[in-house]
Amino acid sequence: MADFHEFYPLRRHNTLGFDVRARFAAHVRSEADLRQALADPRAQGLPLVVLGGGSNVVLTRDLDALVLLMEIPGYAARAADDAFLVTAGAGENWHALVCRAIADGMPGLENLALIPGTAGAAPIQNIGAYGVELRERFDSLRAWDRQAGAFVTLTREQCRFAYRDSLFKAEGRDRYIITAVTLRLPRPWQPVLGYAELAREIAQGPDAPDTSDASNAPVSAARIRDAIIAIRSRKLPDPAEIGNAGSFFKNPVVSAAQRDALLARHPGLVSHAQPDGSYKLAAGWLIDQCGLKGLRDGAVGVYGKQALVLVHHGGGNGQELLALAQRIAETVAARFGVRIEPEPVIL
Ligand code: EPU
Repeated sequence: MADFHEFYPLRRHNTLGFDVRARFAAHVRSEADLRQALADPRAQGLPLVVLGGGSNVVLTRDLDALVLLMEIPGYAARAADDAFLVTAGAGENWHALVCRAIADGMPGLENLALIPGTAGAAPIQNIGAYGVELRERFDSLRAWDRQAGAFVTLTREQCRFAYRDSLFKAEGRDRYIITAVTLRLPRPWQPVLGYAELAREIAQGPDAPDTSDASNAPVSAARIRDAIIAIRSRKLPDPAEIGNAGSFFKNPVVSAAQRDALLARHPGLVSHAQPDGSYKLAAGWLIDQCGLKGLRDGAVGVYGKQALVLVHHGGGNGQELLALAQRIAETVAARFGVRIEPEPVIL
């Protein structure tokens, strides 16, 4: 039975820590809970908002909506010839899932360690870090299709993953409610160490015990995970200590011509060539160059160790954060002629 609440405080359900209320909220711990919550007469006609860990949303006002707090548990793994398939309930904590799979001898998610949020939210923005994106480790997901009124399975192709983007941020946004995710972890395991900062950390960091199954590999998945934890802990704020939603802006993609022109004027420009010949710029660098790192504007600000992260010091609201984000985007556009766009879902 889904617990149903009226005027429910969401402060503990969003990592920015904004104090807004939901007209109705339901704790969803099973697919049966989900159907029941959706059918509840009290919430008929209200818009629906689905929250996992709330680590990638900006809540700007009270939500006159039914908010589904996705807490469906579950973990199951099976071995196929070329991969391990790990299925997790949408409510499973992402980092705990990464660690559990590694401990169970199924490496492959280590580069995505310590990303806040739940398994069910991971496909929405196609989480990615340190050279790996979810789509490269994704098999399929199960979701309630509100249009069809049925549970469906969506494959990787159907999810239309792109950089920090998917079907669920586009046309599928109000259509699907993800209840379980199946990850595909290729065998044999190959470490991904192409990200310079990670390679450095592995080479220089303290030795970690090898607890992974990949015993013949020169570096274990557990070692990589620990290196990622060390790097992220150094430059990303812990939401338990300071409100934030990870990177607030996507890294903008520009043409080769635009990148060359920028590079000529700004020799320090950080850019990465994309397979299609375009370039991804480091938005954190652009913001940093505008002198905005560490800026504080009342209750909100730019994190002092990573300019791409906006923080909430407490007592503020989502509108203040959006005003700051707009000011940052305008400053970057005026200086570099590049538009940067927010990454989290704004509600
Ligand atoms: N940089 C600066 N100043 C800053 C921040 C960054 O000069 O204040 C420079 C760095 O020195 C580096 C470059 O910008 O040369 C890129 O920085 P970093 O390696 O920290 O990565 P990022 O592009 O800022 C992206 C993801 C992160 C992910 C890291 C590692 C996006 C929007 N962000 O950040 O993802 O952890 O790469 O792969 O793609 C997230 O999405 O919430 C997130 C944290």
